[in-house]
Amino acid sequence: MSAKGNDKQIYITTPLYYVNAKPHIGHAYTNILGDTFTRYHRLAGREVFFLTGTDEHGTKIEKTARQHNEEPREYVEKMVPLFKDLWRLLGIQYDQFIRTTDEAHKEVVRAVLLKLEGTGDIYRAGYTGWYCTPCESFWTKLQLVEGKCPDCGRDVQELIEDNYFFKLSKYQSWLIEYINANPGFIQPEMRRNEITSFLKDPLEDLCITRPKARLEWGIEYPSSSEHVVYVWFDALINYVSAIGMEVDENRFNTIWPADLHLVGKDILRQHAVYWPIMLKACGVEMFKTVLAHGWWTMQGAKVSKSRGNIVDPVVLAKVYGVDALRYFMLREVTVGFDGAFSEDLLRQRYTSDLANDLGNLWFRNGSMLEKYFHGAVPEVSGAETDPLLLMTFALWNKVEEALKSYDPRAALDAIWKVITAANQFVEEKKPWVLAKDPARAEELARALRALTECLAHLAVILTPFLPDTARKILDRLKLSTQPLIRTTAEFSVLMVTPGTSVERGEALFPKLDEEKEPAS
Ligand code: MSP
Repeated sequence: MSAKGNDKQIYITTPLYYVNAKPHIGHAYTNILGDTFTRYHRLAGREVFFLTGTDEHGTKIEKTARQHNEEPREYVEKMVPLFKDLWRLLGIQYDQFIRTTDEAHKEVVRAVLLKLEGTGDIYRAGYTGWYCTPCESFWTKLQLVEGKCPDCGRDVQELIEDNYFFKLSKYQSWLIEYINANPGFIQPEMRRNEITSFLKDPLEDLCITRPKARLEWGIEYPSSSEHVVYVWFDALINYVSAIGMEVDENRFNTIWPADLHLVGKDILRQHAVYWPIMLKACGVEMFKTVLAHGWWTMQGAKVSKSRGNIVDPVVLAKVYGVDALRYFMLREVTVGFDGAFSEDLLRQRYTSDLANDLGNLWFRNGSMLEKYFHGAVPEVSGAETDPLLLMTFALWNKVEEALKSYDPRAALDAIWKVITAANQFVEEKKPWVLAKDPARAEELARALRALTECLAHLAVILTPFLPDTARKILDRLKLSTQPLIRTTAEFSVLMVTPGTSVERGEALFPKLDEEKEPAS
């Protein structure tokens, strides 16, 4: 991740989720990614500010509220807790939850608009579009399908409206140069290439208002009571309004610029074209990276409310546990690519990687400590030179490397190599054979000391990925459940105090009930 000044916090953001439906696994994924990066930095002793929230204005929300016979304001109040509850359930350690209906946010949006009007980057002009009355949707010519509404296929009416426009076009060549000069700005590379080719065609200025005649639910445009602000222009500003831009410059400067804007690939254009230009036009320092992840799909289609193929993360977390869901999402796909969601695969990962590899390793070590050492960690000299531990110590740099390139999957691959090696170590050492021979007591003690240390290190390094499991292991080993590893050297040391009495505890990943119906 980016090099920081001393006081500047690392700033990570998620998109603001539309509250027109309850959150699904696609939304959960982005927040799990953000939480994993956040926890990793915290583990490494870095200050992080992690922002998430909800996008509450616009046609989508207004329409859904009306379908429920509710006022948009009432409706959003009811929906927001679903998001907060899910983040609580998934252990998402965010620092602030911003809502675009927050007064403080609206103030900043108005200030930005007035500033840009003042500099001439926003102007008023006529706008031609096509309106579908039954859908109450306004389309551009390009969006129409054979001249009809792309949603319902019915006829549309041509409409000319007066609106406010933001001069994207003025900044196009600046943006192209900026992207070329900063290869890490848009990631992964395949997405940067998409944006670069999109920018080969001339950019049209962005229409940033909607007449109140067809949309009421939004921030009123400051210099026209006839207009509300386009939902994207409003929502993008959250990244700076949340942290005090225009209000508390001190706070703003300790957090901004954002180090990482996490988004899905479908909203990259807004974040990699509109947003940088908005910042540039406002004279605000550029964010460091926007990282676009792929989609979770089911039967080949994006998981989404409109396709009706929703998978509920609450149900999955209840059946398999939060860590299993986190693990599955982080391990199953490389960030940037789409991933096919399947509960069968989740069950397989649960059973093989979590219950068999990690859960059994813990259980076997605990049982052997109990059996051969009354549950206490044996003391041996020079334990830190055991080859299993040398391999374990090397994990810190590997995980760091992987997370620097936003690749939690590679980090988990490296961690699981050590777990596999530790299981092989048990098979090779055969502590149960050593225990039968008093002459080999020292060897037995060495083996269990090495294994216990290996598990302690695994728990530490798993905290960003599997926070619950890591906490359980650390707790049972009587270690701090909030570890701090500021340098590689701090990871390459023995952690468990000899003589500590280790609680084996309940299975980390209980056997799944074969009879149980899958959650979806
Ligand atoms: N409100 C806008 C974002 C404004 S950010 C200033 C929005 N909201 S959304 O609720 O529709 O989507 C939020 C995020 O969820 C997007 O990053 C989107 O890619 C992600 N996902 C929605 N469905 C998804 C999947 N099926 N899979 C992975 N992520 C997906 O867009």
